Amino acid sequence: MTDVLLKVTGLHAQYGNTRVLHGMDFEVRKGGITTILGANGAGKTTTLRAVCGMVRTQGEILLDGERIEDKATEAIVRMGVAHVPDGRGTFLNFTVDENLRVGAYTRSDKAQVQDDYERVFGYFPILKQRRRQQAGTLSGGEQQMLAVSRALMLKPRLLLLDEPSFGLAPLIVRELFEIFRTINQRDGISMLLVEQNASLALKLADHAYLLETGRVVVSGTAESIRNDEAVRRSYLGY
Ligand SMILES: Nc1ncnc2c1ncn2[C@@H]1O[C@H](COP(=O)(O)OP(=O)(O)O)[C@@H](O)[C@H]1O
Ligand SMILES: [Mg+2]
Repeated sequence: MTDVLLKVTGLHAQYGNTRVLHGMDFEVRKGGITTILGANGAGKTTTLRAVCGMVRTQGEILLDGERIEDKATEAIVRMGVAHVPDGRGTFLNFTVDENLRVGAYTRSDKAQVQDDYERVFGYFPILKQRRRQQAGTLSGGEQQMLAVSRALMLKPRLLLLDEPSFGLAPLIVRELFEIFRTINQRDGISMLLVEQNASLALKLADHAYLLETGRVVVSGTAESIRNDEAVRRSYLGY
């Protein structure tokens, strides 16, 4: 037994011959929220893709003690890893309802799917009002809520969030991050959040890693990084 849900050691990743990650180590505690911060191009998206088997990697990735680095994405999803990709990845021509049903496709516990369907509408009441609308007609914030909701319909143990604040108004972002906290605390869903919005992510997360061109340059508790003015100034720009 371990209190670590995701443990990544010596992670390398590449696209063709281009190496992008150069030996990253990081972890997510059970029930915890880890954030990986970094500028555009640092390798944040690639890190999440690596965890769910979407890029070529070397290194070890353990999910609750089980090695997953050689598994197919589909198998990793079935083990409880849900990915909210950058650019949200909802089906724009499907209704809100249809997007949520697609999210539950891997599940056989159909009665509980109905409960979870109601639960996500509890988190995001606006989606209930819009359930018969095509996703493409939603605002950016509503589409992000739908993308998160669709991932929640997998009943994940680990939620991978790729820059959920991107392109959204500050007020909407704050609301969304409050709901992330509620989901984490109420449903016990662990999260790996990658963000450029450092101040926001450091308030939500318990641990943080700063990524620069595929290498972790600083890591620690979110609190220690938040309180380290030198780190904030040199790496986070605030
Ligand atoms: N499909 C791809 N093919 C080749 N290079 C890529 C691809 N996707 C990303 N890269 C490169 O990998 C590096 C890291 O990208 P990415 O993981 O998207 O960074 P971030 O999400 O932090 O902005 C960048 O230099 C980017 O140009
Ligand atoms: Mg990215």
